[in-house]
This record gives sequence, structure tokens and C-alpha cells, in this order.
Amino acid sequence: MIPCINWLQPFLALISSILLTRGHNCPSSCLCPDHHTVDCTGKGLTRVPNSIPLNVRRLLLSNNWIPWIPEDFLVLYSDLVYLDLRNNSLSQLEPGTLSTSSRLVFLDLGSNNLTEISSGTFVESRSLIKLRVGNNPYLHMVGRDAFTGLTSLRELELQRNALSALDVVVLESLPSLRMLRLEGNPWLCNCHFAKLFVWLSENSHKLLKGKA
Ligand SMILES: *[C@@H]1O[C@H](CO)[C@@H](O)[C@H](O)[C@H]1NC(C)=O
Ligand SMILES: *[C@@H]1O[C@H](CO)[C@@H](O)[C@H](O)[C@H]1NC(C)=O
Repeated sequence: MIPCINWLQPFLALISSILLTRGHNCPSSCLCPDHHTVDCTGKGLTRVPNSIPLNVRRLLLSNNWIPWIPEDFLVLYSDLVYLDLRNNSLSQLEPGTLSTSSRLVFLDLGSNNLTEISSGTFVESRSLIKLRVGNNPYLHMVGRDAFTGLTSLRELELQRNALSALDVVVLESLPSLRMLRLEGNPWLCNCHFAKLFVWLSENSHKLLKGKA
């Protein structure tokens, strides 16, 4: 046993030094102001850069042209706490993409091209506190169980989307919700809307009437 460990030691040292160096690499054209932050804001990126340090906690990717997030993204970057994808070209979230997102606290998907939020998208996102999905002009569908699992969520933005209806169950499944934005959607006034309206009246203190 012992000689074997002695023989392995240089290899282990080599592997950990490779991992450490990797951990301190910064993707070209991005900024890494500290060991846990990678800032690729507004760099004209058309995909997620592939040399992001594995221990990244804050990843800023806003104002790019990124059309999709690889399905295993949060498997690789399991320490991510803050992910800003605002103002990109995302048109859908692959089912399972967020299925290992238990540390994520902040997620901004605003100003993208999402069309729906499917049921089960956030089942593992139990740490998420702020979720921004406003200004997605084709977002017309939020699944009944879309937000199941978001037990810590305090702030939810769904303003300026294409929602004509929203099942009130979606909002009732958010026990920690404090702030909600829904303005600027083309609501259809039918009996489903009546239920939503009742919920909104009872929870009007949570509703934020923003300008933008
Ligand atoms: C969105 O990103 C594009 C590309 O970087 C940029 O030109 C545009 O100003 C951004 N829009 C906003 C509202 O920030
Ligand atoms: C956004 O999605 C719509 C409908 O799915 C599509 O017609 C449009 O080309 C997309 N726009 C961009 C910028 O990807």
C-alpha cells in the first residue's frame, strides 16, 4: 500500500497543480477581478466561453449573443451563486439545465428570446432568491409547476413578456415571495384571469409597478 501511495504522490501533485492553474485562468477577452468572478459583459460572445474557471461563483455574461446554455453547464460550475445572462439570445432552457443549481442565488434571464418556462425547470433551485425573466417578448407560457422548488425565492420578474394567462398555482407555489413584477403583459380577461386577479388583490403588497 505505502509504496503505491509514494508512487502516486507526484501524479496527485501534478493533477492538483493543473486543476489549480485551470482554476485561475481567465477566458480571453473577459475580466476576472477576483478568483471567483468572471466578467464577460458585452464581449460579442455567441456562446458560453469554454475556459471559465471551475470554481467560479459570479459569472457575468450579459449583453452578448449567447443562444443556448449547455445542458451540463451547472454540473461543471456547481459553485455558481450568481449568473447574469441578461440581454442574450436564449430561446429555450433545455430541460435539466438547472437541475444541479442548488447553490444559485441570483439568475437573470431578462431581455432574451425565451418562449416558455416549462414545468420542473427550477425543482433543484432551492437557494434562488432573485429570478429575472422580464422582457422576453415571445414568452407566452409558464408551466403550472414551472416554479416548484423555488422555496427561497423572494423576487420574481415576469414583466413585459407575452403572457396572456398565468395559472395562479404558479404563484401560490412560492412561499417566500416578497416582490413580483407582472406589468406589460397582454392579459386575457377570462375566468382564469379572475383567479389571478383575486390572488393579486390579496397579495398586492408584493406587486411592484415598475417603469421599465
Ligand atoms: C444588449 O446587448 C447588445 C450587444 O452587446 C448591446 O448592443 C445593447 O446595447 C444591449 N442592450 C441593452 C438594453 O443593454
Ligand atoms: C426570437 O424568437 C422569435 C419567435 O420564436 C423568432 O421569430 C425571432 O427570430 C427570434 N429573434 C432572435 C433575435 O433570436
